[in-house]
Amino acid sequence: MKKIIELIKSEITEAFIKSGYDEKYGMVTLSNRPDLCQYQCNGALAAAKEYKKAPIMIANEVVELLKTNAMFQDITAIMPGFINIILSKEFLAEYLSDEIKAEKFGLEAPEKVKTIVIDYGGPNVAKPLHVGHLRSAIIGESIKRIGKYVGHNMIGDVHLGDWGLQMGLIITELKKRQPELVYFDESFEGEYPVEAPFTISELEEIYPAANAYSKEHEDYKEEAKMATFYLQNGRRGYVALWNHILNVSVNDLKKNYEKLNVSFELWKKESDAQPYVADMVEYLKSNGFAKLSEGALVVDVSEESDTKEIPPCILLKSDGATLYSTTDLATIIERMKLFKPDAITYVVDKRQELHFNQVFRTAKKTKIVDDNVKLTFLGFGTMNGKDGKPFKTRDGGVLRLETLIQNVSDAVYEKIMSNREMEEAEAKEIANIVGLSALKYGDLSNQAPKDYVFDIDRFTSFEGDTGPYILYTIVRIKSILNKYQETISNETVNIEGVIPSSSESETSLMLELAKFNDIILNAFDENAPHRICQYIYDVANAFNKFYHENKIIAEEDKVKQTSWINLITLAKDILNTCIDILGFEAPERM
Ligand code: ARG
Repeated sequence: MKKIIELIKSEITEAFIKSGYDEKYGMVTLSNRPDLCQYQCNGALAAAKEYKKAPIMIANEVVELLKTNAMFQDITAIMPGFINIILSKEFLAEYLSDEIKAEKFGLEAPEKVKTIVIDYGGPNVAKPLHVGHLRSAIIGESIKRIGKYVGHNMIGDVHLGDWGLQMGLIITELKKRQPELVYFDESFEGEYPVEAPFTISELEEIYPAANAYSKEHEDYKEEAKMATFYLQNGRRGYVALWNHILNVSVNDLKKNYEKLNVSFELWKKESDAQPYVADMVEYLKSNGFAKLSEGALVVDVSEESDTKEIPPCILLKSDGATLYSTTDLATIIERMKLFKPDAITYVVDKRQELHFNQVFRTAKKTKIVDDNVKLTFLGFGTMNGKDGKPFKTRDGGVLRLETLIQNVSDAVYEKIMSNREMEEAEAKEIANIVGLSALKYGDLSNQAPKDYVFDIDRFTSFEGDTGPYILYTIVRIKSILNKYQETISNETVNIEGVIPSSSESETSLMLELAKFNDIILNAFDENAPHRICQYIYDVANAFNKFYHENKIIAEEDKVKQTSWINLITLAKDILNTCIDILGFEAPERM
């Protein structure tokens, strides 16, 4: 199905052409004065310059041709040359009836299905998931789901941080605590135990302890660096420990992501890219892309047009150690080889922008990726506390993601219990579902690059621009539909779509629902889940207004009533689809 705005645009464009003007002036936008009209065209104002005519004259000529067009109820030229458009009720009803019947509400399949790798989550093994990882998971998951819905082949990769000093630190700390462990016996040749010598909570205590200790003790830090080196060069005992660290962490991470309704197609790791490093370095050297600078191997990525200096991308340090950039570049090589993606999108803290800029430039300049492969850095801002500073626990520590999720559920639970009687178990279950919507919507409704304030009271409110409000609306529609089912009798008529609107609030709701495919495609093009949040908020508001102004269950005109039922069913289906794309769901009641 064509987007409604496209249908309008083709009528307007045709009228411009018939009146002797270029087709490009037939552009149409949503009205910025919804009190006056629904859509508008400002093309006459732009055409006036080229044709040296008063814009209102051009607008009048175009409007004259469209006055009798069945698509419009009213189309008017307004000084100085705007064209205001109000759709006919019949056209709108027909459009919605088609939308109800169509698969995916009429969203057309893409002309070319793209393969897009989306790099998100980015946790580091042995470090607990904290709120810093929350945004990547929430935004990345939603962007992936948008792409999937649109019809692309989306591959989500968690890109686990399992490479580098953190590993050496854990090994060193374990050695300090338990030197007798078999992993540290270099002469040991047997099989290592299958059971890890630590639990996840021990692991999560070990890493910060080691990290803190290494900051105070140079020799300890040196030892950790050496341990990292030995690990990376395959010392058996260290590799066995590293496997334990990985398994224990991954199990725990999966549990946490599941709670967030986030899942990955791929559980690849930074270490998976290491086998590509040697060839890559060789290639970059022999083609003259990489050069030595103060002992380090670097690629110059500065460009003429730079207004700010972009330092070279460092691939090997003077001691031969690889860096974060080396891993990311090698990962690109691996991804190109395994998936031949049309695009790779990274959902990472915006403070890593320079790093990705260097990596992308290197990849393009050295032809590691073709010019037509799109590399996108989607940097997100920080989640702040009410004090405007990065979100912390009350005592200033890093807040674990699990605790945060629990806090939000608890807040919702309180709200549910203060409003009505409900079994504790059911209330808890609902609180988890609604809590997740509060958390995710609170995050996704902001433009990703912006910092935002995490405000648990506001996010969990059942009113206003919040996840719970959206869910509440869905639950309300479901309950009307259930009630309707109970009252159904023989006099019920069967119509499939909707009939022309009989009130302003009904028209508004119809107009919102007609926008669905336009919104989804926009959200995809712009990597912008917040567009979907804005949209469902508008839909929910339009529905609630319609609901307050019309007695659906008591309506006696059965044709009208059935049409309304079909309309609100569409509203519910669209809302449900959208929240699924955002990564949460609605409970049966709340
Ligand atoms: N593990 C990294 C961190 O915690 C994020 C990884 C982002 N993705 C990437 N390809 N570098 O900062």
